[in-house]
Amino acid sequence: MRLRLWPRSLAWRTTLIVLAGLAVVQLAGLTIHALDRRDLIRIAEAQEAATRVMGLYRVVVLTPPEDLVARVRAMNLPPDMTVVLSDEPPGLGLVRVPVEIQRILRLSMLLVPLPQPLRPRESRILWDEQELRVVIGMRLPDGRWLSVSEHPPPPRLLHAPGFLAAFALMTAVAAMLLVWAARRLTAPVRVLAAAAERLGRDVNAAPLPETGPSEVVAAAAAFNTMAARIRRFVADRTFLISAIGHDLRTPITRLKLRAEFIDDDELRTKFLGDLQQLETMVASTLQFGKDISGSEQPTAMDLPALLRTVLDEAADAAPDQPAERLSYDGPEHLTIQARPMALKRAIANLVGNALLYGGAARVRLLPPPSGERPPLLRIEVADDGPGIPPDDMQRVFEPFHRLESSRNRETGGTGLGLPIARNILRAHGGDVTLANRPEGGLVATASLPV
Ligand SMILES: Nc1ncnc2c1ncn2[C@@H]1O[C@H](COP(=O)(O)OP(=O)(O)OP(=O)(O)O)[C@@H](O)[C@H]1O
Ligand SMILES: [Mg+2]
Repeated sequence: MRLRLWPRSLAWRTTLIVLAGLAVVQLAGLTIHALDRRDLIRIAEAQEAATRVMGLYRVVVLTPPEDLVARVRAMNLPPDMTVVLSDEPPGLGLVRVPVEIQRILRLSMLLVPLPQPLRPRESRILWDEQELRVVIGMRLPDGRWLSVSEHPPPPRLLHAPGFLAAFALMTAVAAMLLVWAARRLTAPVRVLAAAAERLGRDVNAAPLPETGPSEVVAAAAAFNTMAARIRRFVADRTFLISAIGHDLRTPITRLKLRAEFIDDDELRTKFLGDLQQLETMVASTLQFGKDISGSEQPTAMDLPALLRTVLDEAADAAPDQPAERLSYDGPEHLTIQARPMALKRAIANLVGNALLYGGAARVRLLPPPSGERPPLLRIEVADDGPGIPPDDMQRVFEPFHRLESSRNRETGGTGLGLPIARNILRAHGGDVTLANRPEGGLVATASLPV
């Protein structure tokens, strides 16, 4: 599995970019601070060293010469400090310390109070490169040299009490603020996505609230205008379909009455048969219009119970079919949110087609494939018929589109079954697809949100 470092969500991307920027700025700030601190530390250390060395010098210079050696030996020196008394000045193999440090040291040495005659007559400040020590030599009033050498402590640039803790706390607070701000800023995008999804399922979904920052208000207003236009468009179309269907009913009834007066028996039967078909088409068309308008409210319902009812009714309608042609395979109970009447019509259309064109209807209810977003249940309706040529697979979903094979059948329908089923399932947030089975026959797969 590939490690994904670049997050997908806008909020996390924004957070990551700003955090990276913040880290660079913080690092630059820290470096400046550390450099500044290094100089300060150097000065402070030099002053401290000078005071220490002068303290020693003072003890030495105030001790009578006969006691001096014993006194130096008895001195309680820090472990990294050595004191040497000699006649020669220190200097062999040593380098001079940079002038600015020398200056600080000398100045600090001058500040230590001592009577003028006791002050060092000469001094040398040197650096022992091999042992990494500072050596300060001072000439005593009697002409001998007192050399004190010590390790300067390693510079601790970032060490200040609480500094790192404060730094970490600051970074953590900034990161938290960032995450919060980024999530807040991208929230309208999520709201918009959810609203678009809702609109796809239900054109009559509630409009978006037009509140918040000006950009969000503008986007919400544009979205609401678009939704209103779609609603009007759907309503106009539905109205047109219903109006035509409705107005056709009266002339068809009149024609039926008049057909009764035709004397020729054969002609009359054909005439009435055609009119009957016309009436069915009008009824389906009206139903189609009703389904689009989505007037039924979703409720909690048991899906397997609905599937079994559809199969029972199909068996009742075709008592001559062997019972094993109709079967259900799946859980006993499963509650979903749906519009029961509409969903029943959609499934009944699929089962009806399977029986009519495929001579069987084997229904299976399957759980959503793992990892699917959003999870969709599958309802498969399989038959043993000829299937559908791949070129016609999409076209059979167009209203009134029927294949040649079914056109000549006496029991031919209107060609609205599949479009109605697809319409209903899409309004539920699902869909329906067709596929030819490798072993023969067609399988219609309806998907539905859990
Ligand atoms: N299971 C199937 N096997 C083979 N062909 C099918 C199957 N289901 C549908 N078809 C083809 O798709 C066409 C369209 O189906 P659709 O259900 O939309 O209309 P219909 O069954 O002809 O009429 P209606 O369902 O409105 O009474 C059918 O006429 C038929 O040719
Ligand atoms: Mg049909």
